[in-house]
Amino acid sequence: MTNSSSITSDQKHFAQSLPEGLDPLRTPEHIAVIMDGNGRWAKARGLSRTKGHIAGVDALKATLRLCSDWGLKALTVYAFSTENWSRPSEEVTFLMALFQRVLKRELEALILQEVRIRFLGDLDQLPGQLQDLITEATVLTSGNKGIHFNVCTNYGGRRELVKVAQRLAEKSVNGDLDPSLIDENVFAAELCTANDVDPDLLIRTSGERRLSNFLLWQLAYAEIHVTDVLWPDFDKSSLLKALLDYQSRSRRFGGLQQITSNRNKT
Ligand code: FPP
Repeated sequence: MTNSSSITSDQKHFAQSLPEGLDPLRTPEHIAVIMDGNGRWAKARGLSRTKGHIAGVDALKATLRLCSDWGLKALTVYAFSTENWSRPSEEVTFLMALFQRVLKRELEALILQEVRIRFLGDLDQLPGQLQDLITEATVLTSGNKGIHFNVCTNYGGRRELVKVAQRLAEKSVNGDLDPSLIDENVFAAELCTANDVDPDLLIRTSGERRLSNFLLWQLAYAEIHVTDVLWPDFDKSSLLKALLDYQSRSRRFGGLQQITSNRNKT
Protein backbone atom coordinates (compact mmCIF):
# COMPACT_ATOMS: atom_id res chain seq x y z
CA MET A 1 0.00 0.00 0.00
CA THR A 2 1.25 3.50 -0.78
CA ASN A 3 2.21 5.55 2.27
CA SER A 4 3.87 8.90 2.86
CA SER A 5 7.29 7.34 3.39
CA SER A 6 7.26 5.60 0.01
CA ILE A 7 6.52 8.45 -2.40
CA THR A 8 7.82 7.48 -5.84
CA SER A 9 9.71 9.81 -8.19
CA ASP A 10 6.66 9.72 -10.50
CA GLN A 11 4.41 10.89 -7.69
CA LYS A 12 6.90 13.66 -6.79
CA HIS A 13 6.94 14.81 -10.41
CA PHE A 14 3.15 14.94 -10.77
CA ALA A 15 2.60 16.35 -7.27
CA GLN A 16 4.11 19.59 -8.56
CA SER A 17 1.42 19.95 -11.24
CA LEU A 18 -1.51 18.99 -9.00
CA PRO A 19 -3.87 21.78 -7.91
CA GLU A 20 -3.61 22.81 -4.30
CA GLY A 21 -5.80 20.72 -2.01
CA LEU A 22 -5.32 17.42 -3.82
CA ASP A 23 -3.35 14.75 -2.00
CA PRO A 24 -0.74 13.39 -4.46
CA LEU A 25 -0.72 10.08 -2.61
CA ARG A 26 -4.44 9.50 -3.07
CA THR A 27 -5.17 10.45 -6.66
CA PRO A 28 -7.05 7.73 -8.56
CA GLU A 29 -4.99 5.70 -11.00
CA HIS A 30 -7.86 5.16 -13.39
CA ILE A 31 -10.94 7.29 -14.06
CA ALA A 32 -13.93 6.19 -16.12
CA VAL A 33 -16.31 8.79 -17.52
CA ILE A 34 -19.85 8.63 -18.86
CA MET A 35 -19.88 11.81 -20.94
CA ASP A 36 -23.56 12.71 -20.84
CA GLY A 37 -25.52 15.85 -21.70
CA ASN A 38 -24.22 16.94 -25.10
CA GLY A 39 -27.74 17.09 -26.53
CA ARG A 40 -29.17 19.08 -23.61
CA TRP A 41 -26.22 21.48 -23.73
CA ALA A 42 -26.96 22.18 -27.39
CA LYS A 43 -30.73 22.42 -26.89
CA ALA A 44 -30.27 24.99 -24.11
CA ARG A 45 -28.43 27.16 -26.64
CA GLY A 46 -30.86 26.63 -29.50
CA LEU A 47 -28.24 24.59 -31.37
CA SER A 48 -28.44 21.25 -33.12
CA ARG A 49 -27.41 18.14 -31.12
CA THR A 50 -24.38 17.76 -33.37
CA LYS A 51 -23.00 21.05 -32.02
CA GLY A 52 -23.24 19.54 -28.56
CA HIS A 53 -21.12 16.57 -29.61
CA ILE A 54 -18.54 18.92 -31.18
CA ALA A 55 -18.35 20.87 -27.91
CA GLY A 56 -18.07 17.52 -26.12
CA VAL A 57 -14.87 16.76 -28.01
CA ASP A 58 -13.27 19.94 -26.60
CA ALA A 59 -14.23 18.89 -23.07
CA LEU A 60 -12.75 15.45 -23.71
CA LYS A 61 -9.46 16.87 -25.00
CA ALA A 62 -9.15 19.13 -21.95
CA THR A 63 -9.97 16.27 -19.56
CA LEU A 64 -7.43 13.95 -21.17
CA ARG A 65 -4.75 16.63 -20.95
CA LEU A 66 -5.50 17.29 -17.26
CA CYS A 67 -5.55 13.59 -16.36
CA SER A 68 -2.21 13.17 -18.11
CA ASP A 69 -0.68 16.27 -16.47
CA TRP A 70 -1.91 15.13 -13.05
CA GLY A 71 -0.26 11.74 -13.39
CA LEU A 72 -3.24 9.45 -13.84
CA LYS A 73 -2.43 6.12 -15.40
CA ALA A 74 -5.67 5.60 -17.34
CA LEU A 75 -8.78 7.39 -18.58
CA THR A 76 -11.64 5.35 -20.05
CA VAL A 77 -14.56 7.16 -21.67
CA TYR A 78 -17.93 6.00 -23.01
CA ALA A 79 -18.13 7.47 -26.50
CA PHE A 80 -20.75 5.20 -28.10
CA SER A 81 -22.73 2.38 -26.54
CA THR A 82 -24.19 -0.71 -28.19
CA GLU A 83 -27.58 0.96 -27.54
CA ASN A 84 -26.64 4.25 -29.27
CA TRP A 85 -27.32 2.70 -32.72
CA SER A 86 -31.01 3.28 -31.96
CA ARG A 87 -30.53 7.07 -32.28
CA PRO A 88 -31.67 8.76 -35.51
CA SER A 89 -29.43 7.56 -38.35
CA GLU A 90 -28.23 11.13 -39.10
CA GLU A 91 -26.90 11.46 -35.55
CA VAL A 92 -25.19 8.06 -35.67
CA THR A 93 -23.60 8.90 -39.03
CA PHE A 94 -22.49 12.26 -37.66
CA LEU A 95 -20.91 10.68 -34.57
CA MET A 96 -18.98 8.11 -36.63
CA ALA A 97 -17.69 10.86 -38.92
CA LEU A 98 -16.80 12.99 -35.89
CA PHE A 99 -14.79 10.17 -34.27
CA GLN A 100 -12.91 9.71 -37.53
CA ARG A 101 -12.27 13.43 -38.06
CA VAL A 102 -11.11 14.03 -34.48
CA LEU A 103 -8.89 10.95 -34.39
CA LYS A 104 -7.21 11.93 -37.65
CA ARG A 105 -6.74 15.52 -36.48
CA GLU A 106 -5.45 14.65 -33.01
CA LEU A 107 -3.28 11.61 -33.75
CA GLU A 108 -0.03 13.53 -34.01
CA ALA A 109 -0.69 15.38 -30.76
CA LEU A 110 -1.55 12.10 -29.01
CA ILE A 111 1.76 10.61 -30.17
CA LEU A 112 3.70 13.70 -29.00
CA GLN A 113 1.94 13.61 -25.62
CA GLU A 114 2.91 9.92 -25.20
CA VAL A 115 -0.77 8.92 -24.94
CA ARG A 116 -1.52 5.25 -25.62
CA ILE A 117 -4.96 5.15 -27.22
CA ARG A 118 -7.15 2.09 -27.60
CA PHE A 119 -10.73 1.67 -28.72
CA LEU A 120 -12.73 -0.89 -26.76
CA GLY A 121 -15.90 -2.54 -28.04
CA ASP A 122 -17.16 -4.37 -31.11
CA LEU A 123 -15.10 -2.44 -33.61
CA ASP A 124 -15.95 -4.61 -36.61
CA GLN A 125 -19.40 -2.98 -36.80
CA LEU A 126 -17.88 0.50 -37.25
CA PRO A 127 -17.42 2.09 -40.69
CA GLY A 128 -14.40 0.59 -42.50
CA GLN A 129 -12.41 3.84 -42.72
CA LEU A 130 -12.85 4.45 -39.00
CA GLN A 131 -11.69 0.89 -38.27
CA ASP A 132 -8.55 1.47 -40.37
CA LEU A 133 -7.78 4.70 -38.56
CA ILE A 134 -8.35 3.05 -35.18
CA THR A 135 -5.89 0.30 -36.12
CA GLU A 136 -3.33 2.90 -37.22
CA ALA A 137 -3.74 4.98 -34.04
CA THR A 138 -3.55 1.89 -31.83
CA VAL A 139 -0.36 0.66 -33.49
CA LEU A 140 1.33 4.07 -33.62
CA THR A 141 0.69 4.79 -29.94
CA SER A 142 1.12 1.25 -28.58
CA GLY A 143 4.65 1.91 -27.31
CA ASN A 144 3.80 5.22 -25.66
CA LYS A 145 4.62 5.46 -21.99
CA GLY A 146 2.03 8.04 -20.96
CA ILE A 147 -1.60 7.79 -19.97
CA HIS A 148 -3.71 4.92 -21.30
CA PHE A 149 -6.69 6.48 -23.08
CA ASN A 150 -9.48 3.98 -23.71
CA VAL A 151 -12.39 5.06 -25.90
CA CYS A 152 -15.36 2.70 -25.52
CA THR A 153 -17.01 2.65 -28.93
CA ASN A 154 -19.87 0.29 -29.74
CA TYR A 155 -19.27 -0.98 -26.23
CA GLY A 156 -21.76 -2.69 -23.92
CA GLY A 157 -20.90 -4.17 -20.54
CA ARG A 158 -23.26 -7.14 -20.84
CA ARG A 159 -22.01 -7.93 -24.34
CA GLU A 160 -18.43 -7.84 -23.07
CA LEU A 161 -19.25 -10.28 -20.26
CA VAL A 162 -21.05 -12.64 -22.65
CA LYS A 163 -18.01 -12.61 -24.95
CA VAL A 164 -15.70 -13.46 -22.06
CA ALA A 165 -18.00 -16.36 -21.12
CA GLN A 166 -17.94 -17.56 -24.75
CA ARG A 167 -14.13 -17.43 -24.94
CA LEU A 168 -13.70 -19.29 -21.67
CA ALA A 169 -16.25 -21.90 -22.77
CA GLU A 170 -14.40 -22.36 -26.08
CA LYS A 171 -11.08 -22.80 -24.29
CA SER A 172 -12.65 -25.34 -21.95
CA VAL A 173 -14.24 -27.30 -24.80
CA ASN A 174 -10.92 -27.30 -26.67
CA GLY A 175 -9.20 -28.69 -23.61
CA ASP A 176 -7.07 -25.55 -23.11
CA LEU A 177 -8.68 -24.59 -19.82
CA ASP A 178 -9.87 -26.59 -16.83
CA PRO A 179 -13.28 -25.04 -15.92
CA SER A 180 -12.59 -25.59 -12.24
CA LEU A 181 -9.64 -23.19 -12.54
CA ILE A 182 -11.80 -20.28 -13.73
CA ASP A 183 -11.63 -17.64 -11.03
CA GLU A 184 -11.92 -13.83 -10.97
CA ASN A 185 -8.36 -13.38 -12.24
CA VAL A 186 -8.81 -15.79 -15.16
CA PHE A 187 -12.10 -14.08 -16.03
CA ALA A 188 -10.74 -10.53 -15.73
CA ALA A 189 -7.77 -11.38 -17.97
CA GLU A 190 -10.25 -11.77 -20.86
CA LEU A 191 -11.82 -8.33 -20.41
CA CYS A 192 -11.00 -5.56 -22.87
CA THR A 193 -9.53 -3.53 -20.00
CA ALA A 194 -7.21 -6.34 -18.92
CA ASN A 195 -4.16 -4.07 -19.26
CA ASP A 196 -5.39 -1.56 -16.69
CA VAL A 197 -6.34 -1.63 -13.04
CA ASP A 198 -10.08 -1.30 -12.54
CA PRO A 199 -11.32 2.31 -12.45
CA ASP A 200 -11.08 3.84 -9.00
CA LEU A 201 -13.56 6.56 -9.87
CA LEU A 202 -16.57 6.78 -12.19
CA ILE A 203 -17.69 10.28 -13.19
CA ARG A 204 -21.10 10.74 -14.77
CA THR A 205 -22.17 14.15 -16.00
CA SER A 206 -25.65 15.69 -16.49
CA GLY A 207 -27.06 14.39 -13.23
CA GLU A 208 -28.11 10.91 -14.39
CA ARG A 209 -27.52 8.18 -11.81
CA ARG A 210 -27.24 5.09 -13.97
CA LEU A 211 -24.42 2.80 -15.08
CA SER A 212 -25.97 2.51 -18.56
CA ASN A 213 -24.27 -0.83 -19.26
CA PHE A 214 -20.77 0.66 -18.81
CA LEU A 215 -17.88 -1.49 -17.51
CA LEU A 216 -20.19 -3.64 -15.39
CA TRP A 217 -17.42 -5.89 -14.06
CA GLN A 218 -14.69 -3.26 -13.80
CA LEU A 219 -16.73 -0.72 -11.81
CA ALA A 220 -17.53 -3.17 -8.99
CA TYR A 221 -15.57 -1.12 -6.42
CA ALA A 222 -15.39 2.28 -8.11
CA GLU A 223 -16.38 5.40 -6.22
CA ILE A 224 -19.15 7.20 -8.13
CA HIS A 225 -19.21 10.95 -8.66
CA VAL A 226 -22.35 12.34 -10.31
CA THR A 227 -22.39 15.98 -11.33
CA ASP A 228 -25.18 18.09 -12.84
CA VAL A 229 -22.63 19.72 -15.16
CA LEU A 230 -23.38 18.85 -18.81
CA TRP A 231 -20.42 17.18 -20.51
CA PRO A 232 -19.43 20.11 -22.80
CA ASP A 233 -19.18 22.32 -19.67
CA PHE A 234 -17.02 19.81 -17.78
CA ASP A 235 -13.75 21.65 -17.11
CA LYS A 236 -10.77 21.78 -14.78
CA SER A 237 -12.84 22.87 -11.77
CA SER A 238 -15.33 20.04 -12.43
CA LEU A 239 -12.52 17.48 -12.56
CA LEU A 240 -10.95 18.92 -9.43
CA LYS A 241 -14.32 18.66 -7.62
CA ALA A 242 -14.61 15.02 -8.69
CA LEU A 243 -11.11 14.23 -7.41
CA LEU A 244 -11.70 16.02 -4.10
CA ASP A 245 -14.97 14.10 -3.71
CA TYR A 246 -13.04 10.89 -4.43
CA GLN A 247 -10.39 11.76 -1.85
CA SER A 248 -13.07 12.40 0.76
CA ARG A 249 -14.27 8.79 0.49
CA SER A 250 -13.10 5.97 2.71
CA ARG A 251 -12.39 2.99 0.45
CA ARG A 252 -12.53 -0.34 2.23
CA PHE A 253 -13.55 -2.81 -0.51
CA GLY A 254 -15.85 -4.58 1.91
CA GLY A 255 -13.19 -4.82 4.61
CA LEU A 256 -12.51 -2.58 7.58
CA GLN A 257 -9.19 -1.04 6.61
CA GLN A 258 -8.97 1.95 4.28
CA ILE A 259 -7.22 1.14 0.99
CA THR A 260 -5.89 3.81 -1.36
CA SER A 261 -6.03 2.11 -4.77
CA ASN A 262 -7.61 -0.82 -6.59
CA ARG A 263 -4.12 -2.20 -7.14
CA ASN A 264 -3.83 -2.81 -3.40
CA LYS A 265 -7.20 -4.51 -3.07
CA THR A 266 -7.09 -7.86 -1.33
C1 FPP B 1 -23.98 11.59 -24.63
O1 FPP B 1 -24.71 12.80 -24.66
C2 FPP B 1 -22.85 11.66 -25.57
C3 FPP B 1 -22.59 10.78 -26.57
C4 FPP B 1 -23.43 9.60 -26.85
C5 FPP B 1 -21.46 10.97 -27.47
C6 FPP B 1 -20.19 11.30 -26.75
C7 FPP B 1 -19.15 11.63 -27.73
C8 FPP B 1 -18.27 12.65 -27.59
C9 FPP B 1 -18.19 13.53 -26.42
C10 FPP B 1 -17.27 12.85 -28.66
C11 FPP B 1 -16.09 11.95 -28.38
C12 FPP B 1 -15.13 12.03 -29.47
C13 FPP B 1 -14.14 11.14 -29.69
C14 FPP B 1 -13.21 11.33 -30.80
C15 FPP B 1 -13.97 9.96 -28.84
P1 FPP B 1 -26.20 12.76 -25.19
O2 FPP B 1 -26.16 12.95 -26.67
O3 FPP B 1 -26.84 11.51 -24.73
O4 FPP B 1 -26.80 14.02 -24.50
P2 FPP B 1 -28.31 14.16 -23.96
O5 FPP B 1 -28.48 13.10 -22.91
O6 FPP B 1 -28.33 15.54 -23.38
O7 FPP B 1 -29.22 14.00 -25.12
